[in-house]
Amino acid sequence: MNSLVSASQIEAPTEAVEEVVRLTGVTRHFAQTAALDGVSLSIHRGEVLGLIGRSGAGKSTLIRCLNGLERVDAGEIHVQGTRITDLTERELQPLRRRIGMIFQHFNLLSAKTVEENVALPLKIAGVARAERLKRAAELLDLVGLSDKAKAFPASLSGGQKQRVGIARALAARPVLLLSDEATSALDPETTRSILTLLKDINRKLGLTILLITHEMEVVRDIADRVAVIDAGRIVEEGQVWSVFADPQTDITRSLLGGIRPQLPAQIAARLSPTAGAEAILSVDLAGPAAQGALFADLSAALPHSFRLVHGGIDHIQGQPVARFFIAVPTRDATLSGKVQQFLTARSARVEVLGYDTDHA
Ligand SMILES: Nc1ncnc2c1ncn2[C@@H]1O[C@H](COP(=O)(O)OP(=O)(O)O)[C@@H](O)[C@H]1O
Ligand SMILES: [Mg+2]
Repeated sequence: MNSLVSASQIEAPTEAVEEVVRLTGVTRHFAQTAALDGVSLSIHRGEVLGLIGRSGAGKSTLIRCLNGLERVDAGEIHVQGTRITDLTERELQPLRRRIGMIFQHFNLLSAKTVEENVALPLKIAGVARAERLKRAAELLDLVGLSDKAKAFPASLSGGQKQRVGIARALAARPVLLLSDEATSALDPETTRSILTLLKDINRKLGLTILLITHEMEVVRDIADRVAVIDAGRIVEEGQVWSVFADPQTDITRSLLGGIRPQLPAQIAARLSPTAGAEAILSVDLAGPAAQGALFADLSAALPHSFRLVHGGIDHIQGQPVARFFIAVPTRDATLSGKVQQFLTARSARVEVLGYDTDHA
């Protein structure tokens, strides 16, 4: 397959990236299941890394290995240069303080007030009461909940509870924030506000975030890079816009299915692999190539050569990512080839999906 996004577009910036976390060949088995099967992955300072995969792919196990809640069978994990894979439980304590975590079900203590929940990690770390309440007040301000300091979790909405969770995760000034499906229990509007908050914190504090989710919109909207895990293996990783524009594996294509334009079902149902009145083509474009007037130019060069069937342009990390479906009449047997040639010369990726048997 030709590559839609050229290497020069995907390469990391030339300045050296600092790795906050590095996993090398990390393997973790449960009985016959390889939850992690040789995972190598880096998390760069200041980035939001999205980790996506089907249920059971190994996402939560990876996070649990990262903060030492789960041991690894093989491989190494370095956090800020320190190898953590063979630390004792006691040696892991200071590490856990450097890693904040937020959860799908918030995990707040119901008998404690909001400010006590936020200050709890500091209490455990032995910080004096006045100091920790001051820090809790700052954090509640950061997450927009200053007026709820004395409230109890039961009186808060889901979104407010997650804001408390975020404030608590930041209390000990972590270098890394781990988020495991933190918005999965929230409605779309609340999800949006939590994502905006996380992106804000990422920018303001330069905090590195590992974001695990099965919601592709979450990754599209706030991640810088994305890694795809399947059956315990990282099968693909790269900048979000380039992976979304040009997924290289079936599993990634399937995960992204819901947010990329798909051929309308009624057309897909009558598609023949061999013959029909129109050839149905998918046309993918991304980055600079998607900025021109591609279809107007195609129309001018080859009049009446195609019909626009479906598609659209998304904007991810400021880059246009376009995916269209067009129908090309087969009356003229050479037309489809000419259209493909024209589009390919303009850096589009074109695929003949089949032939529409119905359309006159
Ligand atoms: N404590 C455990 N005991 C047995 N099997 C486990 C345990 N934790 C995870 N697994 C298995 O490991 C695989 C990966 O699980 P998990 O990391 O929770 O996936 P994800 O978070 O991507 O849904 C699954 O097959 C799961 O059943
Ligand atoms: Mg999980």
